[in-house]
Amino acid sequence: MTQAKLIDGNAFSANLRDEITARVHEIRDLHHVTPGLAVVLVGEDPASQVYVRNKNKRAAECGMKSFEHVLPADTSEHHLLNLIEGLNDDPDVHGILVQLPLPRHINAQKVIETIRPDKDVDGFHPWNVGMLASGGIGMIPCTPLGSLMMLRDHLGLLTGLKAVVVGRSNIVGKPMANLLIRESCTVTIAHSQTKDLPAEIRAADIVVAAVGKPEMIRGDWIKPGATVIDVGINRVTLPDGKSKLVGDVKFAEAVQVAGAITPVPGGVGPMTIACLLRNTLTAAARLHR
Ligand code: GUN
Repeated sequence: MTQAKLIDGNAFSANLRDEITARVHEIRDLHHVTPGLAVVLVGEDPASQVYVRNKNKRAAECGMKSFEHVLPADTSEHHLLNLIEGLNDDPDVHGILVQLPLPRHINAQKVIETIRPDKDVDGFHPWNVGMLASGGIGMIPCTPLGSLMMLRDHLGLLTGLKAVVVGRSNIVGKPMANLLIRESCTVTIAHSQTKDLPAEIRAADIVVAAVGKPEMIRGDWIKPGATVIDVGINRVTLPDGKSKLVGDVKFAEAVQVAGAITPVPGGVGPMTIACLLRNTLTAAARLHR
């Protein structure tokens, strides 16, 4: 049995970041503008701390300004909204990202709706959600955008292909489905209440797994030759007490069946950050055209 081709998110994202770095230098030289990304973290969730550190590090490597705002877990909603309003008005800030999840006493939707849509580099504001759904030009959420770039790179045109998106979150599942519709795929959104999930997945040429359940999708659910994008990043504890990251797809099985698959780690994760930088660059370039 031939093994699936590995879709290398590290290599792909490194190329993308090189292109972004070149464009950052260009708009700095032409327009005297340095794209700036503000990342806001509320609380001390260790996984979120790692993501935020990586986002800032990568932004700086691309020549962007990065502004980190780390607030205690008991920060009031009022205080957070005031901070965002300040960032909305700050001409050095072109992109604003508030790391999710937020503590339970803060209304995340209200926070998202306070971010100026043209600075909303996550693409979560209802204006951007509506733009994606109606075929307009807005900010596209980073994980779906990175996933689509890898699909296009591997498959070329996606027209007419059957795609199943497993998971219906606002961050990944729903925007991913909208992007695939825009690419003229025939799209199914499956979720925890789907009756026969293996059958839905077996029908698909493209599988995007975004459920957050470690290794839930088995190799024999996958159509031979299908392209598998594994968005899951799940930390699991091994019998020896150590831990490792696994996706939503049982990789060792799926790699025997799929035509191509993204590994975890080293697949979608690095593309998400590269797309965040791409959106920040787009925001800065739009403002200073
Ligand atoms: N938490 C998990 N993924 C994301 C993301 O893409 N953006 C934000 N803001 N928070 C997240």
